[in-house]
Amino acid sequence: MSAEILDKNKTIDLRKKHIGPSCKIFFSHDPIKIVQAKGQYMYDEKGQRYLDCINNVAHVGHCHPDVVKAGAQQMELLNTNSRFLHDNLVLYAQRLQATLPDKLSVCYFVNSGSEANDLALRLAQQYRGHKDIITLDNAYHGHVSSLIDISPYKFHQLSGVEQNPFVHVAPSPDVYRGKYRADHPDPATAYADEVKDIIDKIHKKGGKIAAFIAESLQSCGGQVIPPVGYFQQVAEHVRKAGGIFIADEVQVGFGRVGTHFWAFQLQGEDFVPDIVTMGKPIGNGHPMSCVVTTREVAEAFMSSGMEYFNTFGGNPVSCAIGLAVLDVIVKEDLQGNALRVGGHLINLLEKQKAKHPLIGDIRGRGLFVGVELVKDRLKLTPATAEAQEVIYQLKKDHILLSADGPHRNVLKFKPPMCFTMEDADLAVEKIDHILTELEDALGLKLPNRVTIENECSKRKVSAPKHQASSHICMQDKVFFH
Ligand SMILES: Cc1ncc(COP(=O)(O)O)c(C=O)c1O
Repeated sequence: MSAEILDKNKTIDLRKKHIGPSCKIFFSHDPIKIVQAKGQYMYDEKGQRYLDCINNVAHVGHCHPDVVKAGAQQMELLNTNSRFLHDNLVLYAQRLQATLPDKLSVCYFVNSGSEANDLALRLAQQYRGHKDIITLDNAYHGHVSSLIDISPYKFHQLSGVEQNPFVHVAPSPDVYRGKYRADHPDPATAYADEVKDIIDKIHKKGGKIAAFIAESLQSCGGQVIPPVGYFQQVAEHVRKAGGIFIADEVQVGFGRVGTHFWAFQLQGEDFVPDIVTMGKPIGNGHPMSCVVTTREVAEAFMSSGMEYFNTFGGNPVSCAIGLAVLDVIVKEDLQGNALRVGGHLINLLEKQKAKHPLIGDIRGRGLFVGVELVKDRLKLTPATAEAQEVIYQLKKDHILLSADGPHRNVLKFKPPMCFTMEDADLAVEKIDHILTELEDALGLKLPNRVTIENECSKRKVSAPKHQASSHICMQDKVFFH
């Protein structure tokens, strides 16, 4: 039986009529109608298969049978709220906790990444009664009002709207395009000092910091990997001021980075956030999420006297699904797969960088990888239209990829964790082909070594103080090795 109920044009018409126009669709000129999915593949109404490089929600693979079975079996038995005792809730909390440092021991189950981050802000503000929040430039933390306020990725799109006076934006710790780059002697300290300066300014104005919030690796912000040691130093400044550190793992958690289960662990064992928020992959597509914090923060929240109740959060079906997701990650060694396949993908892409002038930077951990396209490797001019072209051409090859970052020029890989070496080979082969055609059409060529070295020495003299001239040159020299 066809999984399509309506003719595609009818679906488009009804969507236009009844769905809010700000709910955007992929490939708006020629949207894809997906009717089925399995593993790392999605199928349209005609049975055409697409390789999915973007759906990190379908973490253990679309419609994984173990997850579907766990949900269906529990749905047949019982689904109700967490005011009744139920083993799924406590067993799931115990299993999740076992993946985290001991100090993070108290869970609140909610239903979306936005709910998790909104609750994290409430916990932080209740903790010491402080109000001010520091967020990172280009960050996205969710769609509810409190989170639009701390999401420059979103509020920068609004003109004439005043930033919430309790929200302060620190520079994104982006060592490729940011304020302090890879050639800086200590970018971690330089970026952390920016946070400290903001805290000092808040104090001067009589404010008090409640929290610093950041994704452990910025995703919408352009697949940014903060320098190691940055979070430790930020946490020190923030805690000294009575605030807490919130790590948003909504996109990047659950083994995606390969070497660790949580992306904040990339910073080192000496770093433990005060709150971790989880979402997207946690339920493999089932709407659920979680906030994990310390006993101390949870007790402070309790002391307000207000009950916390959430109708759907932590229901037995969601917990059964969450448990099944954790089981599959272990059973199929998906964290190990992310490490192996992600490493292979990055190696392949690095080779492409040596060949294609449009590729400015490759960065990633495990199956979280960014390819930043630039029109000029010295000026870092974002190749935004070119990134869109790559995505549209890939769609013709039945590969789904997206572009993000403040300039929408970073190709984003975050596929289901069952992505294979062959999938990586295929995606990179197609990208190679598309970039070759694009560069031919644009007349773009890799400059020769002499030109680059001259350009670098010119730029070293003229670059503004905060710009990292030699890093840019270093980036460009990589392809000669
Ligand atoms: C880092 C991050 N945090 C929070 C959210 C919000 O999650 P949700 O859309 O489930 O509310 C998102 C969604 O894209 C996200 O990327």
